[in-house]
Amino acid sequence: MADAEQLMQIAIRRAILIPSAEIYGSQAGFYDYGPVGCAIKRNIENLWRAEMLQKEGFHEIETSLLLPEIVLKASGHLENFADPLISCQSCKQKFRADHLLEKHPEAKNIKAASLAPEKLSELIAKYELACPNCKTKLSSQVGWFNLMFKTNIGPLEGNPGYIRPETAQGIFIDFPRIIRNFGGKLPIGIGQIGKSARNEISPRQGLVRMREFTQMELEYFFHPKQQEHPKFASIADETLRLAEESGSPSEVKIKDAVEKGLIPNQIMAYLLWKQKQFYLMLGIPQDKFFFRKIPKEETPHYSLGNIDLEVETSYGIIETAGTAYRTDYDLSSHMRLSGQDLSVFDEQTKEKVVPHVVEPSMGVDRTFWCVLEHCFREKSPSKEWEWFDFPPKIAPYHAWVFPLMKKDGLDAKAREVEEKLRAAGLSVYYQESGSIGRRYARADEIGVPYCITIDYESLEQEDVTVRFRNDAKQIRVKIAQLAEELKSFISQNKVTG
Ligand code: GLY
Repeated sequence: MADAEQLMQIAIRRAILIPSAEIYGSQAGFYDYGPVGCAIKRNIENLWRAEMLQKEGFHEIETSLLLPEIVLKASGHLENFADPLISCQSCKQKFRADHLLEKHPEAKNIKAASLAPEKLSELIAKYELACPNCKTKLSSQVGWFNLMFKTNIGPLEGNPGYIRPETAQGIFIDFPRIIRNFGGKLPIGIGQIGKSARNEISPRQGLVRMREFTQMELEYFFHPKQQEHPKFASIADETLRLAEESGSPSEVKIKDAVEKGLIPNQIMAYLLWKQKQFYLMLGIPQDKFFFRKIPKEETPHYSLGNIDLEVETSYGIIETAGTAYRTDYDLSSHMRLSGQDLSVFDEQTKEKVVPHVVEPSMGVDRTFWCVLEHCFREKSPSKEWEWFDFPPKIAPYHAWVFPLMKKDGLDAKAREVEEKLRAAGLSVYYQESGSIGRRYARADEIGVPYCITIDYESLEQEDVTVRFRNDAKQIRVKIAQLAEELKSFISQNKVTG
């Protein structure tokens, strides 16, 4: 696995990531995606859309980024969505108090994230923690800092709005209209992919803790007494790597985990299994990620139980997704504050119920980073350059197309092949500069699975060479069959010849 700093430099050099506002020195906690990164990110999002929404018959919506204060009052974010902050009285820098405490050797067994500000202040004084910037002893009290970005909607003061801290709230407030439009029956799944923002006190670790980030969230609404899932039987004997609280993960059969109460219900179990399949499709090896049941004191304010997805990275283990049993917390709160009835009439039980919700919420940027880390390959005797082993479905391009030489009609033929592949819906890029070996290396460096070369034989035989990224083996394929062959390789994940 590459060191994070080294990988970030590679990502920046190869147009995968760009520090946001770079020409002005850039701000911590913001990254742009360059053409290569953007293509990979879209592919990850589209795969999630296909696997988590379309294959399950769920709906996708897109809701507002900016929300009026009342929504976030109802959701509890106005009151509860805060991190503990301490200011240095000497240099005026501000820090996450729990993170400072966690770094102290004597405090390493303390769960700082669950401590109240008074307790954090007491421990910071006890261990005589110093400001990481100017090294003065910290003496101020820890306070809460709300993480939402606040603004004013419209030209007049007095109409506060906030950038959403999660995409989920848009789904809860649109829920009554969507369920009415789609038959009024539970269960129903509604998902959304979009940006959220949190004004992190100390953004760090590149894409891991950003101030603006993309989420893929699914809200699965169901009758509170019907916690079974129709497809549970098909996955009951499958396994998940699951850790309890701060323990290490072990492989557990899904039905045993539900029976023992490690997973709250079949619905959550099914959605965790879907996430496992999704991560495997992204090329993250099975032994590099696992699920963790979060202790009660660390679950978010809206949740009756959380199971996170955690991945081993060079930053250490990071949480990339959280699945929460949100119960009727959000819908009930929105009912109270809006005065609208958000309950659903259940035909079977003839009851009016406020649905319960299980929510798998995945961070796209963190997932993206894990894909970079786990698909990165060092130089080796067979490849003298660092490269990425992305699964073809999420690679930035399906294929690069090259003329062997920029003359004798090879370039025109290559352009013709490029157009044909594009017309067939494949993502391709034409390259004619540099030696053919250098062009293969450049394609490998950003993880392009197939390189198509048009040589002199192509002009006579109407065929091309297809080079497979992982072993550099080549085969000849007729131009007329090329698009179909490539699609078949992509669907089989074929990356060797
Ligand atoms: N919707 C859960 C989260 O944003 O953390």
